[in-house]
Amino acid sequence: MKIYNRHLFPRMNVYLFYDAFINSVTIVKSLFCLSIEKNFTFVTHRGIKRIIEQYGGAPGQIVNSLQKNLGYGYLHYSLIRVTRPKHVLCIGSRYGYIPALCALACKENSYGKVDFVDAGYDRSHPKAWGGEGFWKQIDPEKHFALIGLSEWITTFVMTSQKYNKRFAKKTYDYVYIDGDHSYEGVFSDYLMFWPRLRKGGFMLFHDISQGANDKQSPFGAWKVWQKILKMHQYGITFPNQRSGLGVLQKS
Ligand SMILES: C[S@@+](CC[C@H](N)C(=O)[O-])C[C@H]1O[C@@H](n2cnc3c(N)ncnc32)[C@H](O)[C@@H]1O
Repeated sequence: MKIYNRHLFPRMNVYLFYDAFINSVTIVKSLFCLSIEKNFTFVTHRGIKRIIEQYGGAPGQIVNSLQKNLGYGYLHYSLIRVTRPKHVLCIGSRYGYIPALCALACKENSYGKVDFVDAGYDRSHPKAWGGEGFWKQIDPEKHFALIGLSEWITTFVMTSQKYNKRFAKKTYDYVYIDGDHSYEGVFSDYLMFWPRLRKGGFMLFHDISQGANDKQSPFGAWKVWQKILKMHQYGITFPNQRSGLGVLQKS
């Protein structure tokens, strides 16, 4: 299966794709094989361990350090390797795990840059959603330089709303939403950045399963994702009890 052509994905038989890869472990590994064909470099077993430890790969990303499994990290890394986005936007990360893998993929493509936006909230803030205030305590450039990524990623310690206003003209080829996890927060990120996603580009949502079966849960990405699936034809869901990932391509 080839997905090198960025416009191919919506036109192919999405249901075949979905059936073939319904198990998220299979999809991440299969996509990973495609990227191995394309100059496999840093993501060796030692590299995997280092990325997970240095950037806080967590169970919510289906990471397993002992099994050297990058979980959803494989999906981001591989999708970026094969679709070669020019402008990548990542919203929200505790210690930079997914943004680092996105930047690594750009570096290994020798193409594309990541804008990483996080408000830097810590536990005392009602909108931290697991944030530890990390981005206000360290120098993000030095943090991403630890595996040679500083040239490929720029960190903006601010809310996505503020970033959106400050860079109102930017457009994107790949957007990852993992910041404010309330229904309003996720939907507002979708509304702000969907119009600025280029045709053929991808938008991915984390935690689209979390809280779906609990009426008291403050998590709202699942509700946004349900709404999005009704609005768009090509959403692919990777359900997972702990988190879940939704992938949408603009056609
Ligand atoms: C910690 S992440 C959630 C965990 C994440 N799934 C991971 O794997 O690292 C949520 C982050 O979103 C950030 N955040 C919350 N509201 C935000 C907003 N409006 N704009 C940007 N970042 C936001 C918080 O500072 C926090 O670091």
